[in-house]
Amino acid sequence: MGKIILTGDRPTGRLHVGHYVGSLKRRVELQNSGNFDEIFIMIADAQALTDNADNPEKVRQNIIEVALDYLSCGLDPSKSTLFIQSQIPELCELSFYYMNLVTVSRLQRNPTVKSEIQMRNFEASIPVGFFTYPISQAADITAFKATTVPVGEDQLPMLEQTKEIVRKFNSVYGDTLLEPEILLPDNAACLRLPGTDGKAKMSKSLGNCIYLSETEDELKKKIMSMYTDPDHIRVEDPGKIEGNTVFTYLDAFCKEEHFERYLKDYKNLDELKAHYKRGGLGDVKVKRFLNAVLQEELEPIRNRRKEWEKDIPAVYEILKAGSEKARAVAAKTLDEVKAAMKINYFDDMEMIREQAERYKK
Ligand code: TRP
Repeated sequence: MGKIILTGDRPTGRLHVGHYVGSLKRRVELQNSGNFDEIFIMIADAQALTDNADNPEKVRQNIIEVALDYLSCGLDPSKSTLFIQSQIPELCELSFYYMNLVTVSRLQRNPTVKSEIQMRNFEASIPVGFFTYPISQAADITAFKATTVPVGEDQLPMLEQTKEIVRKFNSVYGDTLLEPEILLPDNAACLRLPGTDGKAKMSKSLGNCIYLSETEDELKKKIMSMYTDPDHIRVEDPGKIEGNTVFTYLDAFCKEEHFERYLKDYKNLDELKAHYKRGGLGDVKVKRFLNAVLQEELEPIRNRRKEWEKDIPAVYEILKAGSEKARAVAAKTLDEVKAAMKINYFDDMEMIREQAERYKK
């Protein structure tokens, strides 16, 4: 059977380098590997509305931002289907039936939901739609019969929940749905890239993000003011690598070839780290190196974005065509689901005949 990818992002802001190393870069590699029969990339606007119901304009604005970020990273509409979640009403129908297979206490135990409720101070007033979004996410994944879901580790509980729904559905109604597999980033630094201030996670409200669409100057400014080791005051002082954001970013982005191009005195990152720990290596030098590495990585993305920005209607056309294609696939799965649940009354001629017989007697 074929291999199918489904993944996506909430359109609540421009995508940043954390999204890039945590998942976007991998998606482009997977797309170009030729190992997948279908790739669906979804802009999860309906999910974004579960905690932004009072701000639809924000979600609306960011659909185009995320689409531009996708295209500029190298997602190719001739190879990957890019679509908008809300345009696939079949996903709502699937969610509605899956809701009967999940308990309230199971949702309450979902670690991602739990921490997001805390983050948003929702404790006393959780919107029902938000509370049940893991179910809608299971609909997203199963509607496309996804075998592979490349996401960050924060999505692990969502995948667990999806698998449980699949197992439950199949055991109650017969084998219909497919259990997906999560595909996590393979580099530990990429699992969760910290913000420029060293805080655990990049977030717009903390103002510690490096966006993919950053200009050359903005990028440099953010790197030069990045959090390092606060005790590394003079160049001669020995420095710490752990928790040092500049080195975490180098772990995520730098390759040996970068040393040849930009920092010939060292052969690789281990040598650079050793010198930093010994003392005698200043933060500015390391930051300049990181800047060179990141500029090299982000420049083609920035340039492609500029090109797409010149033709915004074409971007919407891509999303429209993608949504139409995605909808046809989801509709087929929904038909199968309804048949398995025996709620396909008008297609079930045998059932109609049986009912007719019953009344003849
Ligand atoms: N929850 C994901 C996020 O926070 C977005 C998303 C919605 C998603 N549905 C999905 C990811 C299905 C993977 C598969 O960005």
